[in-house]
Amino acid sequence: MTNATAFAPGRVEILGNHTDYNGGVVLSAALQLGVTATGCRLANGEVQLGSGDMGDMVTLNRNEGLKPRHDWTDYPLGVAEMLARSGAEAGGFAVQYESTLPSGAGLSSSAALEVATAVFLSRLYPFALSRMEIAKLCRRAENEFVGVNCGLLDQASSVFGRKDHLVYLDCRAESVKEIPFPAHLGLLIINSSVKHALTGGEYNERREQCFAAAAAMGVEALRDTTSAALEAADLPALAKRRARHVVGENERVFEAIEALRAGHGEKLGQLMTASHRSSMENFENSTPELDLLVELAIQQKGCLGARLTGGGFGGAIVALVEQDAVEDVLKNVKSVYDTKTGYSAAGYRCRAGVGALPPDHDQA
Ligand code: GLA
Repeated sequence: MTNATAFAPGRVEILGNHTDYNGGVVLSAALQLGVTATGCRLANGEVQLGSGDMGDMVTLNRNEGLKPRHDWTDYPLGVAEMLARSGAEAGGFAVQYESTLPSGAGLSSSAALEVATAVFLSRLYPFALSRMEIAKLCRRAENEFVGVNCGLLDQASSVFGRKDHLVYLDCRAESVKEIPFPAHLGLLIINSSVKHALTGGEYNERREQCFAAAAAMGVEALRDTTSAALEAADLPALAKRRARHVVGENERVFEAIEALRAGHGEKLGQLMTASHRSSMENFENSTPELDLLVELAIQQKGCLGARLTGGGFGGAIVALVEQDAVEDVLKNVKSVYDTKTGYSAAGYRCRAGVGALPPDHDQA
């Protein structure tokens, strides 16, 4: 019996909010938290999916065609189906998933599940897809099988993460660069514990508004314009605000990269806080709980900046904090937040971790 195992991390978006589906640029990091897939081949197209978290075992047969079941199994089944459609892989398998990622926190548990499945299957039934091809196949599974119109950020971060580095993803070029992350700084994720679900209509609505704003500007995508051009343009007020967020985020990513290369980590913090303000004022994808967490975090000594991370409309914030201040920042923020809201904030201290596949995968 052939056995295989694969780990894929969740991700935290550091800067570049809602830029990915606008052909833009993003800075992110893979987490140490993620999804592990372990299992073996099965004969005759049989597929068994189990998850400790979900507490059930689902059995089906891929020779009868894989269809969405509208639950967590759609992520792995979508990957298996996209692999079959690309002619890469077609056998049966049994797989058990274990996750250390909180779901609904905006840390990409779904992308981790997809990428873990793809890498697991590549070890059971070897196929030659590059890291970027695997990330894109997983995104296709989410777009076409699960029915969520996400961009490439989550899957690419999960595949390409590198220890102590940020992933710089250019979604137009479909290329990734690694940016060293300052050793004296830490990332603190604080989950508002108010659920985040991208299946809600807001994400798609924002997407459409961005596309409409690009069309009104006469450009292919919001990547192709600048803040100056946008402010000078005659656009309806709502379209302008939505576009201002995305265009500003691209510019903040470029600024952050320059600052990090010059060794100015604190500048990244300022840009993160500016990003959150823009979410509040322009993109309206924040919540009162996320705003409170950010407000509390940036008041703390040693915190250089904070913002919501991921799609928004709930989920978590990420704060950039001096390493030796992380515990205090978390303790202080949590104590006020819990008392004020009645929710229980959950904190995760993290460093940029390794992705699901090593760089030499692409040379193989
Ligand atoms: C979610 C989506 C990503 C990206 C972010 C916002 O995480 O899955 O593709 O659009 O929201 O930046």
